[in-house]
Amino acid sequence: MRDVFSKESLQKYAADRRAEFEQILEKIVEIPTVSVEPERKGDVRRGAEYAVSLLESAGAKATLYDTPGHPIVYGRFDRGSDLPTVTVYNHLDVQPAEGDDWKTSPFDFVKAGDRYFARGTTDDKGPAVTALFGARYAWENGVPANIHFLWEFEEEIGSPHFEGTIRKEARAFATDSVVVSDTVWVSRARPAQPAGLRGLQGFRFELQTGQTDQHSGTAGGAARNPVTEMCQLISECVDGKTGRVKIPGFYADVVPPSKKDLEDLKKCGFTVASFKKDHLYKKLRVEEPLEVMKRIWMMPTFEVHGIAGGYQGPGVKTIIPPKATAIVSCRLVPNMNPRKIVKLVTDFVRSKNPDVRVSSEHALPSYQGKTTGPYADAIRAAMKFGFGKEPVFVREGGSIGAVLSMEKVLRVPVFFLGLSLPEHGYHAPNENFDWAQAEGGMAAFADYFRRVAAMP
Ligand code: BES
Ligand code: MN
Ligand code: MN
Repeated sequence: MRDVFSKESLQKYAADRRAEFEQILEKIVEIPTVSVEPERKGDVRRGAEYAVSLLESAGAKATLYDTPGHPIVYGRFDRGSDLPTVTVYNHLDVQPAEGDDWKTSPFDFVKAGDRYFARGTTDDKGPAVTALFGARYAWENGVPANIHFLWEFEEEIGSPHFEGTIRKEARAFATDSVVVSDTVWVSRARPAQPAGLRGLQGFRFELQTGQTDQHSGTAGGAARNPVTEMCQLISECVDGKTGRVKIPGFYADVVPPSKKDLEDLKKCGFTVASFKKDHLYKKLRVEEPLEVMKRIWMMPTFEVHGIAGGYQGPGVKTIIPPKATAIVSCRLVPNMNPRKIVKLVTDFVRSKNPDVRVSSEHALPSYQGKTTGPYADAIRAAMKFGFGKEPVFVREGGSIGAVLSMEKVLRVPVFFLGLSLPEHGYHAPNENFDWAQAEGGMAAFADYFRRVAAMP
């Protein structure tokens, strides 16, 4: 008999279950679980209810937990309270999918050969379903561990109710370790093991200097223009060309990369050419690879996501607008304190333009993970098993609010087994996932559970 945990057995499992995997991915991505859009609240709820039924049909017990916002779904393949428990975290909410750059409709599942297109395929529904298939295999083949699933529906809005809910349900969610599948490799050529995530602090700047539109020929020259003032304020905060943040003290707590960090970066397989290709850029602020990597993974940023105010239609409408809004966020790196950044930014804005109202979003601190020890070794071995190559050490530039909360509240270590690729288009139009990542991911997850169960 073939060893059930051989690569061949897992390849056969994946091949036999491919149609089922695709059907589930289709169902789940066609529920538009856009957490940021209030009018989608019912869809998000429907997504959570579907998630419960999906876990149940895989043989797990599943519960939907209501929060003051969107629900959380918890699933369990329990084998025995004396056995180790490993919890898989994914989020099943998605980014909005507005805009005309989609080649297919964002909430229609489109299969093109080995690629699957739709909002949420790679961030993060495809990895979630992949992990579930790996878990089901481990479970059905007797791995002596409890495998739990913690599925969030508010990750893309900064996990505002996650920590409160897992605190309340800490007994039900008790575990020995967590594995998060919500990160990106540097390239398809090699898996990646992230050593950390950047944090995020969001802001909204609002400036009102009038009551209504006014004719710029009659009032212009004397009237304040809120859009112009907002642009000036932004340029006082950040150098638009270099990205250098000009707020005094902004970089004060940034720890420079260690020698080991720099060596890991040099070895991780990053190239500027594929970075540009994957993200559809012709020109970057800097072109030197180490400098690009430092900027996307290890340095804080001040980014304007949107600026609104005044006329946006065809031709010219000669008005002076009454108000302007800017939506801004700062990526944070280890050792930076989000509260300190809120104070720094708020005070700075006030000093430059006291009429601008600053409101801040729920903070996501950065995260420094462990890349040594038995779990990290098991992740590496499982990735090698699933994909044929050892992962490289990287950092991730994005943020996952739930990670720090799980470590803090559940008091267990958190590891990453990500399956997404740069060309999958995180948050972009034409987001996609692919079968190679799903197939390798199922094997990697099954192997990881087997390894965790075998730990002394
Ligand atoms: N999966 C991403 C986080 C991520 C991004 C990890 C890039 C690795 C590389 C997650 O879904 C995400 O997009 N997080 C948001 C959180 C925010 C909206 C509060 C982010 O990072 O912007
Ligand atoms: Mn994600
Ligand atoms: Mn995301």
